[in-house]
Amino acid sequence: MSSTLKFFFIGATGYVGSSVLERFLDHPEANNFEFTALVRDPRKAEKLKQFSVNAIVGSFDDAKLVEDLTAAADIVVDMGGSDNLGLAKSTLRGFQRKFQETGKPSIFIHTSGTIIIADDAAGLHSSDVVWNDADPDQIEQLPPTAPHIDVELEIIRADKEGYVRAYFVTPGTIYGIASGKFVDAGLAHKHSIQVPALIKTSLDRGQAGMIGKGLNIWPNVHIDEAADFYIDLYNAIKANPDSVGHGRDGFYFLLNGEHSLYDVGKEIGRALVALGKVTTEVPSTYTQEEVNKYFGGSNFLGTNSRGLANHSKSIGWKPKKTTQDLMASIKPEVEEILKHL
Ligand SMILES: NC(=O)c1ccc[n+]([C@@H]2O[C@H](COP(=O)([O-])OP(=O)(O)OC[C@H]3O[C@@H](n4cnc5c(N)ncnc54)[C@H](OP(=O)(O)O)[C@@H]3O)[C@@H](O)[C@H]2O)c1
Repeated sequence: MSSTLKFFFIGATGYVGSSVLERFLDHPEANNFEFTALVRDPRKAEKLKQFSVNAIVGSFDDAKLVEDLTAAADIVVDMGGSDNLGLAKSTLRGFQRKFQETGKPSIFIHTSGTIIIADDAAGLHSSDVVWNDADPDQIEQLPPTAPHIDVELEIIRADKEGYVRAYFVTPGTIYGIASGKFVDAGLAHKHSIQVPALIKTSLDRGQAGMIGKGLNIWPNVHIDEAADFYIDLYNAIKANPDSVGHGRDGFYFLLNGEHSLYDVGKEIGRALVALGKVTTEVPSTYTQEEVNKYFGGSNFLGTNSRGLANHSKSIGWKPKKTTQDLMASIKPEVEEILKHL
């Protein structure tokens, strides 16, 4: 690596991406870092430039641009392309080029998600199957049809060939409203995916909702602690690259507590009753029509996804927030969403 470390960020204006980028900008070594980000909205790109980030306007579909930006970087941090095989292939071509030029593998921090370990419970039951991020033999048993896994397999193959070192940051449900200078500047998403979707659909249908009986279980992690992990991972790689698992040994689950979707629905119901928006706290089952309307027919909110973050914690990540914090985050999130409806 050159003395100036060149970062290329994918998804920098996202909920996760903006929280992570801000932490890298505040890193004690940031004077030696150079930041480039691919941004599809020219207005956001202009704003990002004010924070010393070289924002390049373009999309995940701009294969040659993604390849070139990757080839010019030492570290690529992807926080937007968990299910985008085309994007992964473009970055891999860039890593290959860089390796041909320098003989050194670049670092690829790729964001996945614990949906890779999800089952098909449809909300009807919980599960005793628990996946351990420190057990690559177990993770290798995931079927090729598991969500996102086509992307991981392609990247693992590249890691094995030696031209890139790949690390899979794999969060459960991330919760909490994102904060920081990018959110304040209006260039970053401040809401996550799952809980806000459940809140919005509850408001629309006049009652909190769940898939099936909501008995399925998901893990959770607070946005700030999820973003902290990327720095812990970078620091660990920097301190001792050979001690940090990558490729097939490179899955890092981000989770620190579990919730049933019934309990989350109930908490949303409680908040909506308290705010005078609905009359019952109890969630009801989404009809198939609602699943189609709200979730494109996907039952993913009815799956079980249970894991252990042993690998993540082994590199020094110390999450403190638990499911209680998830529950406490719901009413403020409802209030924030209501403000903007
Ligand atoms: N949030 C969670 O609970 C969670 C949990 C597990 C895994 N993940 C994974 O983590 C990643 C980030 O999630 P997130 O919640 O931060 O999502 P997000 O807020 O929607 O951020 C996505 C980012 O990707 C950018 N983007 C999307 N499509 C693009 C395109 N075609 N061209 C250029 N840029 C594009 C967005 O830009 P704009 O600003 O222009 O929209 C944004 O910067 C995703 O891969 C997600 O699957 C998230």
